[in-house]
Amino acid sequence: MTAARPAHVEAPPSPLVGAQRRGPARDAARDAVLEVLGTVEHGDERGRLLGFPTANVAVPEHGLRDGVWAGTVQVGPAEDGPVHVAAVSIGHRPTFYGRDGERLLEAHLLDFEGDLYDRTVLVRLHVRLRPQRAYAGAAALVDQLLLDVAETRAWAQREGLGALLTTP
Ligand SMILES: Cc1cc2nc3c(=O)[nH]c(=O)nc-3n(C[C@H](O)[C@H](O)[C@H](O)COP(=O)(O)O)c2cc1C
Repeated sequence: MTAARPAHVEAPPSPLVGAQRRGPARDAARDAVLEVLGTVEHGDERGRLLGFPTANVAVPEHGLRDGVWAGTVQVGPAEDGPVHVAAVSIGHRPTFYGRDGERLLEAHLLDFEGDLYDRTVLVRLHVRLRPQRAYAGAAALVDQLLLDVAETRAWAQREGLGALLTTP
């Protein structure tokens, strides 16, 4: 389900481009759950090599803070499709690209295997876990990704979303 190159986003109508204030307060900084609706794009597959495949969606230029978030991804929201818990990264991937990397939204869906290319997804960002950082290399990043996933899993359990997980 890897993808890259943000090319197409269906931005919801909002003063924030591509991000809506809606629902209960979750992110202390914004006091809202943020949403991005978009199409999963093809990417360069590094996430799969690292053991953390990601679904990439075009990220709005404004309205979303870079960082790592705990949230959900609904596949096919118009058809009321399945919702998955996800660890979502927004940023330039400084570990690999310094300051010059393309800004991406990448969602790693927990307990999910499958092909999401060209599917429409609704990404909901609930809690910002940390900023993006430049790690010493792939191994150090993977150590951090394991922590991010564990934290996201714990968040989902706390929020009553445990039924969406197949691993405790
Ligand atoms: C939960 C999560 C957290 C991430 N955190 C960082 C980070 O702090 N720094 C960074 O350089 N990249 C981070 N990334 C992005 C990874 O570098 C990226 O997913 C990986 O390089 C594969 O991307 P690609 O296949 O689009 O190249 C994160 C990705 C995920 C899914």
